[in-house]
Amino acid sequence: MSLAGKSVMITGAASGIGAACAHKAAADGARLLLCDMDVERGEALRQELASKGADCYFHVCNVTAEEDIETAVRKANKYFGRLDCAVNNAGITGPAAAIESYRLEDWNQVIATNLTSVFLCVKHQLAAMKAQGSGAIVNVASGAGLIGTPNLVAYCASKHGVLGITKTAVAENPRSGVRINAVLPGSTRTPMLEQSMANPEVEKMILGSIPCGRLAEPEEIADAILWLCSDAAGYVNGQSLVVDNGGLSR
Ligand SMILES: NC(=O)c1ccc[n+]([C@@H]2O[C@H](COP(=O)([O-])OP(=O)(O)OC[C@H]3O[C@@H](n4cnc5c(N)ncnc54)[C@H](O)[C@@H]3O)[C@@H](O)[C@H]2O)c1
Repeated sequence: MSLAGKSVMITGAASGIGAACAHKAAADGARLLLCDMDVERGEALRQELASKGADCYFHVCNVTAEEDIETAVRKANKYFGRLDCAVNNAGITGPAAAIESYRLEDWNQVIATNLTSVFLCVKHQLAAMKAQGSGAIVNVASGAGLIGTPNLVAYCASKHGVLGITKTAVAENPRSGVRINAVLPGSTRTPMLEQSMANPEVEKMILGSIPCGRLAEPEEIADAILWLCSDAAGYVNGQSLVVDNGGLSR
């Protein structure tokens, strides 16, 4: 399952699951374009990985802006000569509220960050990968992409939508040499989840909803994402891989 020498673009790379992907891919010898809007953490990660010998760049990037995504793909081509793999991972939860009181501006922000961003990434990554005749894209959705999620209507809708983008991209490109899959993590120990779990009621609800009794570690999600990026998954395309230790199997 080697990514040695492959060029990999990761959005939301500065934290949590994205950062775990960056650490593991770098250790495997991949060349990395780290994309995030958090300049401080993104640059710190780049420095850390570069100090361990990784060929690694940081691109400050708002995933809701098409020009930022276009520039990221162009930079990957400039630095590495090609874009082999992309992990479209940046996301936010948005505020919790029932549908009747969910604010339109919150809806718009979550949809732009979690869904429109994936559309923009796939649009520009596909064009580059089709031109070179190969590539692998992994979109990070969520278990909330398969089931209703009380008080998180925009998050839930955005993650259902990510699966629609993934399947459509595959249906449009059966002979392109580009594989597009989605990973659906269960509850994972990252700053995003820790922030939600600061509320003891939410913490109790989240921990109570995990049959195996523990959160996923970000590295466990990264393993699945990077496997889908690798040639070991060469015949796996259009799939929605749930990585939740059986949580949705009840
Ligand atoms: N943690 C979980 O339990 C969990 C479960 C299922 C799915 N996910 C999904 O995994 C992905 C990563 O989540 P995480 O838990 O690692 O979160 P995180 O908050 O630790 O990291 C998200 C990263 O995305 C970046 N980001 C946010 N908005 C951005 C924007 N507009 N432009 C550029 N970068 C932006 C943040 O700066 C941050 O570095 C998300 O798509 C999330 O929905 C997480």
